[in-house]
Amino acid sequence: MSPRLIIVSNRVAVPEPGNKQMAGGLVVAVKAALRNRTGVWFGWSGKIDEMETAEPRIVQRNRITYAVIDLSKNDFDEYYNGLANRVLWPLLHYRVDLQKYSRADHSGYMRVNRLFADKLGAFLTKDDIVWVHDYHLMPLARELRARGHLNPIGFFLHIPCAPLDILRTLPHHEEILGALTYYDLVGFQTENDRDNFAAYLLTIPGAKAGRGLTFGVDGRRTRIGAFPVSIETATYARLARNAARSPLAKEIGESLDGLRLVLGVDRLDYSKGIIQRINAFDRFLEVNPEWRSRVTLLQITPKSRSDVKDYAAIENEVATLIGKINGRYGQASWTPIRYVNRSYSRAALSGLYRAADVALVTPLRDGMNLVAKEYVAAQDAGDPGALLLSEFTGAAAELTGALIVNPHESEGVAAALKRALEMPLAERRERHGPMLAHLLVHNVELWAETYLSSLAETQLRPSYMSDLRALFSPPRSRTPERSQTHSDKLEETQALVRLLPTLAAPTDWTYRRVW
Ligand code: G6P
Repeated sequence: MSPRLIIVSNRVAVPEPGNKQMAGGLVVAVKAALRNRTGVWFGWSGKIDEMETAEPRIVQRNRITYAVIDLSKNDFDEYYNGLANRVLWPLLHYRVDLQKYSRADHSGYMRVNRLFADKLGAFLTKDDIVWVHDYHLMPLARELRARGHLNPIGFFLHIPCAPLDILRTLPHHEEILGALTYYDLVGFQTENDRDNFAAYLLTIPGAKAGRGLTFGVDGRRTRIGAFPVSIETATYARLARNAARSPLAKEIGESLDGLRLVLGVDRLDYSKGIIQRINAFDRFLEVNPEWRSRVTLLQITPKSRSDVKDYAAIENEVATLIGKINGRYGQASWTPIRYVNRSYSRAALSGLYRAADVALVTPLRDGMNLVAKEYVAAQDAGDPGALLLSEFTGAAAELTGALIVNPHESEGVAAALKRALEMPLAERRERHGPMLAHLLVHNVELWAETYLSSLAETQLRPSYMSDLRALFSPPRSRTPERSQTHSDKLEETQALVRLLPTLAAPTDWTYRRVW
């Protein structure tokens, strides 16, 4: 039997009736990675309860066990709203100016990570493979190691990793970012993110770069890599084809009544550049009067993290700006911008993507952006729409057929929008075809496979071999060894790996404050 895959993330999409659709790329990716695997998805229930959860609440669906715990109001404020979303989120999105650090939030963040380690540790078995997701849980591996868990533990950061000088503005960064060195493998969305973190790692006293993107820190070894997250491309394309024939698609088609459709889909978040996008659309209508009454921008924006002040502020700002533009250009029979604060089902969204002539994906900074990939997958390959994509998304490195824009320049985005709306069919097809072909291969299944096999390899790497050999063997004289064949090495490694769980934790895996 293959080992269980234990996914840990702050949010868990428990499939229960009445649970609302969750926004954000993490849920899309994790759900897809768990499909066809035996596993557990552990995390926060999304509920606040003053009574400490004694045992995680379990929901079983096919081969997946969902295990969730509630958080107290204090945990929610300090860990989720506080350090995760008022500090790490802005910082990792290059917004040092929005970072609001407090020691109370820092200790709340550590406390919840310890809570996760306690609850998760209680049902971990020695053969489980643990894969931790996102910035809420950076210190989790250190906590698990401190409790004696020797399992392979990997981490994946879904959001960007900022450059060194920004990372170092985080007070006590070594306790949080430095704790990533307790993972066997730390994955990033792009090579740029990975390299930013590599530069950070080298500032840690005593850290040494080894071969193949491995780093040694205080006796531990961690490997880093770029693993661009993706979508279930073929399934999504099928969903969109079917959705095009759905009653919702018909309804939308009728309501557009011949208007061209430009679509934006984002959580309401300052990193998404919604204000800049609306300003660019304003500019587009201003300089292209011939397009007025012929196009509408549908901006779908589920509300997000409204307890954090900067999010509440942007909510008002976007609504006011859209009101002004609709007032300025709108007519009784035409609304320039339709603005919706709700989330739609996957199927409904896929139909909207297919119906849209242009998608505006223009974040100021985004780890990957799966909306861009879903838009490409949802198109009718014979008559695809055009994608406008910010150069500051992870997706821009892969979706080279998009019109790449700088979201900070409204004239540039307005000009690209005009170009997209007027783009001849042949060019749209030429741009779309290779992007779809790329996504059909580089799908989320490949992402999960590549990451997990890389994680498994970290357990078989030569450094482990020598560490383990040193643990077992008496000191020997330095006689040259006969050169080992690959299968010799593999056999020896497998034998040692089988013995691993029977050993006590090597001292360098126990938690101690390093810096
Ligand atoms: C992004 C993050 C996820 C997060 C999601 C929704 O995709 O990478 O970790 O879950 O946003 O945000 P929320 O705060 O509602 O969980």
